[in-house]
Amino acid sequence: MSPSAIRPGIFWVGVNDRVTDLFEGQWPLPHGVSYNAYLVVGERVALVDGVKAPFGEELLRHIAEVVPPEGIAYLIVNHLEPDHSGALPLLRRVAPGAEILATKAALPLLDALYGIRDRVRAVSDGETLDLGGKCLSFHAIPFVHWPETMATYEETQRILFSCDAFGGFGALDGVLFDDEADLTHYEGEAIRYYANIVGAVSKPVLRAIDKLGDLPIEVIAPSHGVVWRRDPGRVVDLYGRLARMEGEPAVTVLYGSMYDHTREMADAVARGVTGAGVSVRVVDAARVHPSTVLAEVWRRKGLVLGSPTYDTGIFPPVDQVLRLILAKRVLNRVVGLFGSLGWQGGAVRKMADEVAPLGWDLVDKVEFKGAPRRDDLARGEELGRAVAERVRR
Ligand code: FEO
Repeated sequence: MSPSAIRPGIFWVGVNDRVTDLFEGQWPLPHGVSYNAYLVVGERVALVDGVKAPFGEELLRHIAEVVPPEGIAYLIVNHLEPDHSGALPLLRRVAPGAEILATKAALPLLDALYGIRDRVRAVSDGETLDLGGKCLSFHAIPFVHWPETMATYEETQRILFSCDAFGGFGALDGVLFDDEADLTHYEGEAIRYYANIVGAVSKPVLRAIDKLGDLPIEVIAPSHGVVWRRDPGRVVDLYGRLARMEGEPAVTVLYGSMYDHTREMADAVARGVTGAGVSVRVVDAARVHPSTVLAEVWRRKGLVLGSPTYDTGIFPPVDQVLRLILAKRVLNRVVGLFGSLGWQGGAVRKMADEVAPLGWDLVDKVEFKGAPRRDDLARGEELGRAVAERVRR
């Protein structure tokens, strides 16, 4: 994509990354990701946010279409994760006079990651920077997503550069703004991004929403995904719901199965859910990547977990997802459990033990031996119906 004007004197100069397979080395990127960087052009020029190291030259080309890169006066480092900061050494060489502005907490990381210590200044929370015709202010939003993170606000155009907050996966497919984008796609990518990257810091997200809500914002320009100019409140609402872990009034049936018996029961549970007039998504933990499973769990309030007993415990693909759910601390779920056994049980009990620290609302458990009989499947349907009715309240 080419540089694009967002508002007078404010330009998107970021890049699309369609070649990285795994974000942070673990989260698949089937639709790519954008690293959004922004030029704020007043009498002096500031670059807000940056890109991953391999895309530094493309960033420089985009900047050069707007202003000479060597004339940049300030590099605003909202966040030091290398998807945004990786090009700093290159920018330093090209614009040697530029001063780096970041929070005090960022300075040790800047040194640790890049050995950069000179021409660096810590800005305080709420501090302003007059660029001449443009005016920036800095707002610490610690742990969204690292402790040093801040957001930057441009006062004349009322734009919030929110960094990871309000971002999403998904490269910019020929669009930049919410009013020209397929929001079903980009909001789905935002949910997956939230669950994978930001979900574990949901409390700081809620604090950031509360704090930034004091600013008169007309545009939200995050460091990933579309720029929200038509309806910035929409992505704030989405993030708020995700951070509060409200979940849609729907159910995810997450199961693993060795010989189809647990799968049969999963289908019975799903029939029970839909029979109660609630929508359901059935997910095979062995065949869907855990990052996608996590997003499915985050999306819906109801969750029914099914596992055969394997080595006296939980089927490993289900256990793997459960550990991820625990690590991300997904709360406020209405839950049912089911599982099969051959000569001894274990999976259902161990699933109940494993999720106990999350304080979920456990509706019921169903366990059956061998292949599910008609009465077992009826109990599965009843489990699905009971979870659905609790979710719908
Ligand atoms: Fe997009 Fe936490 O970096």
